[in-house]
Amino acid sequence: MRWVLFVISMFGVAAVISGATDSDDLPEGKGKAIFVRMCSDCHGLDQVTTSKYPKKQWTYVVDDMVSRGAEGSDEDVNSVISYLSRNFGKPLNINTSTAKEIETGLSFTAAQSELLVRYRTDKGAFKTYEELLKVPGLDADLLEEQKKNILF
Ligand code: HEC
Repeated sequence: MRWVLFVISMFGVAAVISGATDSDDLPEGKGKAIFVRMCSDCHGLDQVTTSKYPKKQWTYVVDDMVSRGAEGSDEDVNSVISYLSRNFGKPLNINTSTAKEIETGLSFTAAQSELLVRYRTDKGAFKTYEELLKVPGLDADLLEEQKKNILF
Protein backbone atom coordinates (compact mmCIF):
# COMPACT_ATOMS: atom_id res chain seq x y z
CA MET A 1 0.00 0.00 0.00
CA ARG A 2 2.72 2.40 0.97
CA TRP A 3 4.60 2.14 -2.35
CA VAL A 4 1.38 2.89 -4.22
CA LEU A 5 1.06 6.18 -2.31
CA PHE A 6 4.71 6.89 -3.01
CA VAL A 7 4.25 6.38 -6.75
CA ILE A 8 1.14 8.56 -6.74
CA SER A 9 2.92 11.33 -4.86
CA MET A 10 5.86 11.19 -7.30
CA PHE A 11 3.42 11.75 -10.15
CA GLY A 12 2.18 14.79 -8.29
CA VAL A 13 5.70 16.17 -7.97
CA ALA A 14 6.42 15.53 -11.65
CA ALA A 15 3.20 17.33 -12.63
CA VAL A 16 4.20 20.40 -10.61
CA ILE A 17 7.71 20.45 -12.06
CA SER A 18 6.51 20.14 -15.63
CA GLY A 19 4.22 23.16 -15.18
CA ALA A 20 0.51 23.64 -15.72
CA THR A 21 0.40 22.25 -19.25
CA ASP A 22 -2.36 19.79 -18.55
CA SER A 23 -5.85 20.87 -17.50
CA ASP A 24 -5.58 18.54 -14.48
CA ASP A 25 -2.90 20.82 -13.06
CA LEU A 26 -5.01 23.95 -13.32
CA PRO A 27 -6.76 25.41 -10.27
CA GLU A 28 -10.37 24.25 -10.01
CA GLY A 29 -13.23 26.69 -10.12
CA LYS A 30 -15.74 28.55 -12.21
CA GLY A 31 -14.53 29.22 -15.74
CA LYS A 32 -11.88 26.49 -15.84
CA ALA A 33 -13.64 24.33 -18.43
CA ILE A 34 -14.35 27.35 -20.64
CA PHE A 35 -10.75 28.48 -20.36
CA VAL A 36 -9.49 25.04 -21.43
CA ARG A 37 -11.94 24.95 -24.33
CA MET A 38 -11.33 28.52 -25.56
CA CYS A 39 -7.60 28.79 -25.06
CA SER A 40 -5.93 25.50 -25.99
CA ASP A 41 -6.51 25.33 -29.75
CA CYS A 42 -3.53 27.37 -30.95
CA HIS A 43 -0.95 27.08 -28.16
CA GLY A 44 -0.36 25.28 -24.87
CA LEU A 45 -2.16 26.50 -21.79
CA ASP A 46 1.26 26.98 -20.18
CA GLN A 47 1.77 29.88 -22.59
CA VAL A 48 -1.03 31.53 -20.61
CA THR A 49 -0.54 30.29 -17.05
CA THR A 50 3.10 31.31 -16.74
CA SER A 51 1.92 34.95 -16.78
CA LYS A 52 0.68 36.84 -13.73
CA TYR A 53 -1.39 39.83 -14.78
CA PRO A 54 -3.87 42.21 -13.16
CA LYS A 55 -7.44 41.92 -14.43
CA LYS A 56 -7.20 44.84 -16.89
CA GLN A 57 -4.33 43.15 -18.66
CA TRP A 58 -6.09 39.75 -18.78
CA THR A 59 -9.05 41.55 -20.32
CA TYR A 60 -6.76 42.99 -22.95
CA VAL A 61 -5.09 39.61 -23.66
CA VAL A 62 -8.39 37.71 -23.94
CA ASP A 63 -9.87 40.39 -26.25
CA ASP A 64 -6.71 40.16 -28.34
CA MET A 65 -7.08 36.35 -28.55
CA VAL A 66 -10.71 36.70 -29.61
CA SER A 67 -9.57 38.98 -32.42
CA ARG A 68 -7.10 36.23 -33.42
CA GLY A 69 -9.87 33.64 -33.56
CA ALA A 70 -10.54 32.33 -30.02
CA GLU A 71 -14.25 31.46 -29.94
CA GLY A 72 -16.80 31.99 -27.17
CA SER A 73 -19.88 34.02 -26.19
CA ASP A 74 -19.54 37.28 -24.24
CA GLU A 75 -20.37 35.29 -21.12
CA ASP A 76 -17.58 32.79 -21.91
CA VAL A 77 -15.13 35.65 -22.41
CA ASN A 78 -16.08 37.14 -19.04
CA SER A 79 -15.72 33.75 -17.33
CA VAL A 80 -12.24 33.26 -18.77
CA ILE A 81 -11.14 36.76 -17.74
CA SER A 82 -12.50 36.13 -14.25
CA TYR A 83 -10.86 32.68 -14.01
CA LEU A 84 -7.48 34.06 -15.09
CA SER A 85 -7.73 37.11 -12.79
CA ARG A 86 -8.65 34.93 -9.85
CA ASN A 87 -5.92 32.33 -10.31
CA PHE A 88 -3.16 34.06 -12.28
CA GLY A 89 -3.38 37.58 -10.95
CA LYS A 90 -0.63 39.85 -9.79
CA PRO A 91 -0.77 40.02 -5.97
CA LEU A 92 -0.36 43.31 -4.14
CA ASN A 93 -0.18 44.37 -0.53
CA ILE A 94 -3.49 45.91 0.51
CA ASN A 95 -1.87 47.85 3.36
CA THR A 96 1.00 49.51 1.53
CA SER A 97 -0.52 50.09 -1.92
CA THR A 98 -1.92 53.48 -2.89
CA ALA A 99 -5.52 53.88 -4.02
CA LYS A 100 -4.28 54.17 -7.60
CA GLU A 101 -2.30 50.92 -7.30
CA ILE A 102 -5.35 49.15 -5.85
CA GLU A 103 -7.47 50.45 -8.71
CA THR A 104 -5.00 49.28 -11.35
CA GLY A 105 -4.00 46.04 -9.64
CA LEU A 106 -7.33 44.70 -8.40
CA SER A 107 -9.75 46.53 -10.71
CA PHE A 108 -11.80 48.21 -7.99
CA THR A 109 -13.25 51.55 -9.06
CA ALA A 110 -11.38 54.70 -8.03
CA ALA A 111 -14.06 55.40 -5.39
CA GLN A 112 -13.86 51.90 -3.92
CA SER A 113 -10.07 52.00 -3.85
CA GLU A 114 -10.27 55.30 -1.94
CA LEU A 115 -12.70 53.67 0.50
CA LEU A 116 -10.20 50.91 1.22
CA VAL A 117 -7.41 53.37 1.88
CA ARG A 118 -9.63 55.56 4.08
CA TYR A 119 -10.81 52.56 6.11
CA ARG A 120 -7.22 51.38 6.59
CA THR A 121 -6.12 54.88 7.65
CA ASP A 122 -8.96 55.14 10.19
CA LYS A 123 -8.92 51.63 11.63
CA GLY A 124 -5.35 50.44 11.12
CA ALA A 125 -3.83 47.88 8.76
CA PHE A 126 -5.98 45.02 7.48
CA LYS A 127 -4.83 41.71 8.94
CA THR A 128 -7.19 39.21 7.34
CA TYR A 129 -9.46 38.84 4.33
CA GLU A 130 -12.46 38.77 6.70
CA GLU A 131 -11.68 42.34 7.77
CA LEU A 132 -12.02 43.45 4.16
CA LEU A 133 -15.58 42.10 4.11
CA LYS A 134 -16.47 44.76 6.71
CA VAL A 135 -15.59 47.69 4.46
CA PRO A 136 -18.93 49.17 3.37
CA GLY A 137 -19.44 49.91 -0.32
CA LEU A 138 -17.04 47.37 -1.84
CA ASP A 139 -18.04 45.17 -4.77
CA ALA A 140 -18.34 41.82 -2.93
CA ASP A 141 -18.07 39.67 -6.08
CA LEU A 142 -14.91 41.44 -7.19
CA LEU A 143 -13.45 41.15 -3.70
CA GLU A 144 -14.09 37.41 -3.76
CA GLU A 145 -12.59 37.08 -7.24
CA GLN A 146 -9.47 38.98 -6.20
CA LYS A 147 -9.02 37.14 -2.88
CA LYS A 148 -5.79 35.36 -3.86
CA ASN A 149 -4.28 38.60 -5.16
CA ILE A 150 -4.54 40.42 -1.84
CA LEU A 151 -1.54 40.24 0.48
CA PHE A 152 -1.38 41.60 4.03
C1 HEC B 1 -7.00 31.23 -32.77
C2 HEC B 1 -5.74 30.93 -32.12
C3 HEC B 1 -5.61 31.31 -30.66
C4 HEC B 1 -6.46 30.99 -29.61
C5 HEC B 1 -7.73 30.16 -29.65
C6 HEC B 1 -5.86 31.59 -28.43
N1 HEC B 1 -4.69 32.20 -28.73
FE1 HEC B 1 -3.39 33.05 -27.42
N2 HEC B 1 -2.06 33.37 -28.91
C7 HEC B 1 -2.31 33.12 -30.27
C8 HEC B 1 -1.15 33.55 -31.05
C9 HEC B 1 -1.02 33.46 -32.56
C10 HEC B 1 -0.19 34.02 -30.10
C11 HEC B 1 1.19 34.58 -30.38
C12 HEC B 1 1.06 36.07 -30.45
C13 HEC B 1 2.38 36.75 -30.53
O1 HEC B 1 3.39 36.17 -30.15
O2 HEC B 1 2.35 37.92 -30.96
C14 HEC B 1 -0.81 33.89 -28.78
C15 HEC B 1 -0.19 34.27 -27.59
C16 HEC B 1 -0.78 34.27 -26.35
C17 HEC B 1 -0.19 34.77 -25.15
C18 HEC B 1 1.24 35.30 -24.98
C19 HEC B 1 1.37 36.66 -25.58
C20 HEC B 1 0.58 37.72 -24.87
O3 HEC B 1 -0.20 38.44 -25.54
O4 HEC B 1 0.74 37.88 -23.64
C21 HEC B 1 -1.11 34.67 -24.16
C22 HEC B 1 -0.96 35.07 -22.71
C23 HEC B 1 -2.29 34.09 -24.75
N3 HEC B 1 -2.05 33.85 -26.09
C24 HEC B 1 -3.47 33.85 -24.09
C25 HEC B 1 -4.58 33.24 -24.66
C26 HEC B 1 -5.82 33.03 -23.94
C27 HEC B 1 -6.11 33.47 -22.52
C28 HEC B 1 -6.67 32.40 -24.81
C29 HEC B 1 -8.10 32.00 -24.58
C30 HEC B 1 -9.02 33.11 -24.33
C31 HEC B 1 -5.94 32.21 -26.07
N4 HEC B 1 -4.70 32.75 -25.92
C32 HEC B 1 -6.45 31.55 -27.18
C33 HEC B 1 -3.43 32.54 -30.79
C34 HEC B 1 -4.48 32.06 -30.08
